[in-house]
Amino acid sequence: MAATPLTFPTSLHRRPRPVTASVSERPSPPSLPSTKDQTRPKLPIRKIPGDHGIPLIGPFRDRNDYFYNQGRDEFFKSRILKHRSTVYRTNLPPGPFIAQNPRVVTLLDGKSFPVLFDVSKVEKKDLFTGTFMPSTELTGGYRMLSYLDPSEPNHGKLKQLMFFHLKSRRENVIPEFRSAYSEMFDSLEKEIASKGKASFGLANDQAAFNFLARSLYGAKPAESKLGLDGPKLIGKWVLFQLAPLLVLGLPKLVEDLVIHTFRLPPFLVKKDYRLLYDFFYANSGFVLEEAERLGISREEACHNLLFATCFNSFGGMKIFFPNMMKWIGRAGVGIHTRLAGEIRSAYRESGGEVTMAAMERMPLMKSVVYECFRIEPPVPLQYGKAKRDMVIESHDAAFEVKEGEMLFGYQPLATKDPRIFERAEEFVAGRFLGEEGEKLLKHVLWSNGPEDESPTVGNKQCVGKDFVVLVARLLVVELFLRYDSFDIQVGASPLGAAVTLTSLKKATF
Ligand code: HEM
Repeated sequence: MAATPLTFPTSLHRRPRPVTASVSERPSPPSLPSTKDQTRPKLPIRKIPGDHGIPLIGPFRDRNDYFYNQGRDEFFKSRILKHRSTVYRTNLPPGPFIAQNPRVVTLLDGKSFPVLFDVSKVEKKDLFTGTFMPSTELTGGYRMLSYLDPSEPNHGKLKQLMFFHLKSRRENVIPEFRSAYSEMFDSLEKEIASKGKASFGLANDQAAFNFLARSLYGAKPAESKLGLDGPKLIGKWVLFQLAPLLVLGLPKLVEDLVIHTFRLPPFLVKKDYRLLYDFFYANSGFVLEEAERLGISREEACHNLLFATCFNSFGGMKIFFPNMMKWIGRAGVGIHTRLAGEIRSAYRESGGEVTMAAMERMPLMKSVVYECFRIEPPVPLQYGKAKRDMVIESHDAAFEVKEGEMLFGYQPLATKDPRIFERAEEFVAGRFLGEEGEKLLKHVLWSNGPEDESPTVGNKQCVGKDFVVLVARLLVVELFLRYDSFDIQVGASPLGAAVTLTSLKKATF
């Protein structure tokens, strides 16, 4: 299918421009497996190690390890050691009674993982959330775009509609971001002044929703029936979809029974969803008209707009922005000072305006954003069902997979693969600087595809890829235009990190 041009050209739009700056903090070029692999003799075929255990017992045991006994990272890493392989068989949560078939083949290195992006080899139907799909009662009775395989006719039409929507609102992104996030930082400063600390997550929820509503729909939630409740309503609705995959911190037995064994009944969230739907329907006339031209009903289009805005976009910003604050906060005052210097001088050169061109002159800022995506990809779990029998290669062996088997990748292990990235576990602010750094971008995979490729109607790469990179950059720019440095405390949360700001040190230069 024809490639669709993207709407928010970052430097990586077609031919990426090198990220250049003279900082000492770049690791030496890693030895990449790519070109050598094509000439190397084929790797030995190895039987996929691991098993799924006894029905019901195996999935239950694995689920307990995953959520409670080991935790997600340890669950995968300990089995890599046990099987001496990044490709193995296991069960994944939730399992019975929510998912009939919890069996997967794991792809836990940067070489095997990308097969999940190849839609000629894997089917992506109904597996956005993994081995189970939430009830369509939560989305107006429709299967949303995220759950459609590119072979389904509606996939192309709906994705085209999303491209149209983002493109038609592109001029509003920078001004509305700056306005919503200035309000956020103003209120965080006041809270820190009075209480000594402030939750970044809560403030970010309001700012993200306001920004999305204003930039993409020209609407102010506070002036609608939603008031300030938008983020809370979305949170509850998302919980009803993702609960089987989350740890909420309830007593273990209760939690496992209530959210991992049975589905929460959708009717409990129907009223909340209706409020959100009415808000989007009232404010998206221009997109709904385009939908009708493309042969999609206004109703189906509106449910999809709600989903893309509230689940994909708001959900993504809710997870990723606190994570960025965590990693940049921990990077320390030295990196903060360099970021502030770089960002402010490019800003001044562009006449005191934040523009796309000004951001191109902020190479360390761009590298830092990519490093945040690499070290903790915001959507870490990816799935694909083998369309046919095939052979998948890890760095060490080749594995035969049968048609219909569920393939699963835990992305943080692919983007922290020590055979691709040096100092893979460390946050290296300048990792993507220069020609050599730029070559590594193809191993940054957060958007369900390599960072140097683009979403099209024929693939499953994130529609919002360029939009997301842009807003992530804007957060870092806003932060360091206003502040020299900041301090944080980090706690756990069901989605992403719970970041508390304990200081925001105002710009002094
Ligand atoms: C931090 C923010 C975001 C993250 C981390 C993110 C991540 C992802 C990922 C990983 C996928 C592929 C899921 C899979 O099939 O396994 C995806 C798909 C998708 N994303 Fe995003 N996304 C974000 C923001 C957005 C935004 C702003 C939009 C705006 C419209 C969007 C719309 C979509 C859509 C419609 C799909 C399905 C694409 C298709 O079916 O071809 N996302 N996203």
